[in-house]
Amino acid sequence: MRAAVLVEPGRIEMEERPVPEPAPGDVLIRVASVGVCGSDAHYYREGRIGEFVVEAPLVLGHEASGTVVAVGEGVSAERVGQRVSIEPQRPDPGSAPTRRGDYNLCPHMQFYATPPVDGALCDYVTIGAHFAHPVPDTVSDDAAALCEPLSVGIAAVRKARVTAGSSVLISGAGPVGIVTVQVARAFGAVDIVVTDIDEHRREVARRFGATATLDPRSDDTSHLRVDAYIDASGSPAAVNSGIRAVRPGGTVVLVGSGAETMPIPVQVIQNRELVLTGVFRYANTWPTALSLLESGRVDLDSMVTAHFPLEKSVDALESDRVPGSIKAVVHLSPTVEAQRGTE
Ligand SMILES: NC(=O)c1ccc[n+]([C@@H]2O[C@H](COP(=O)([O-])OP(=O)(O)OC[C@H]3O[C@@H](n4cnc5c(N)ncnc54)[C@H](O)[C@@H]3O)[C@@H](O)[C@H]2O)c1
Ligand SMILES: [Zn+2]
Repeated sequence: MRAAVLVEPGRIEMEERPVPEPAPGDVLIRVASVGVCGSDAHYYREGRIGEFVVEAPLVLGHEASGTVVAVGEGVSAERVGQRVSIEPQRPDPGSAPTRRGDYNLCPHMQFYATPPVDGALCDYVTIGAHFAHPVPDTVSDDAAALCEPLSVGIAAVRKARVTAGSSVLISGAGPVGIVTVQVARAFGAVDIVVTDIDEHRREVARRFGATATLDPRSDDTSHLRVDAYIDASGSPAAVNSGIRAVRPGGTVVLVGSGAETMPIPVQVIQNRELVLTGVFRYANTWPTALSLLESGRVDLDSMVTAHFPLEKSVDALESDRVPGSIKAVVHLSPTVEAQRGTE
């Protein structure tokens, strides 16, 4: 099979590799679409994200869909031919967090495209059968792949306790901010205020459901009293002003990453008894993601701004620098249904 392999920072080479064998409990998937994420671009450019360092050749890509083509021991052969969205994680079923249901916090997690685990920019991948989620025919290969970033938005909106009538402030209108806007709307939020320093991204946020957008460099948010604030920017300045915009008893959810430490307004958190939490990926989000997609309450296809073949993975990884880019997708082998859709 073909694989786009990061051999050193800034260098990706096409390699021929053997098709992997599905281990007991796994399925083998022929990959259809792979979304490119900011973390892929970080590994490509810098060879590391915090404590995760690329020390051996690595296949990037963790937002993926495809078709089951073989099953490992113990998995029903009826799964062969199913279109699936890949939840790119392998928690240890016996660890305490996994048994509690917080399997994203499993200390023995193996996650696609996080060193040393290979990702999906290749023709075939394996994953635990329960982490290959069957996709309805009406959901495209691209949307099935983008259930991964959608899941980050679902995890954030759940933690923010967004419900019917909620008001939410979201900083950052990148792919994660945009899916968070869509999920907040689907969960019943009525006021969805989005900040971004980029005017085009503010415009995109309005298209996907933001009820108001603000430029953090000129507009003040400190008078807002939202029920929840979600940071999807990683900017310390955004987090500092976002926390001040939350009503007493409200919730702060930190999704954005980048700064290892940052100053936060402790007295505001104390005096208003705010609940502040982080988000580390997601758990138990795929059923919700697929329902939101199938019902049309969330639109992921419209977030895709460019497509690339596997051989052009570098261009896909560089496309975040193209003005107007939101989400690039690498196409491998379309699933049968997707092929039918384009005939
Ligand atoms: N916690 C998790 O599990 C998890 C998962 C996925 C992504 N992330 C993080 O979420 C963040 C968003 O991801 P993305 O792919 O959308 O990234 P992105 O870089 O495409 O989007 C970030 C956006 O924030 C905007 N921004 C910068 N400074 C700002 C400010 N002061 N105020 C408001 N907006 C500002 C940028 O213009 C950009 O549009 C990243 O930091 C990423 O690492 C976290
Ligand atoms: Zn991602």
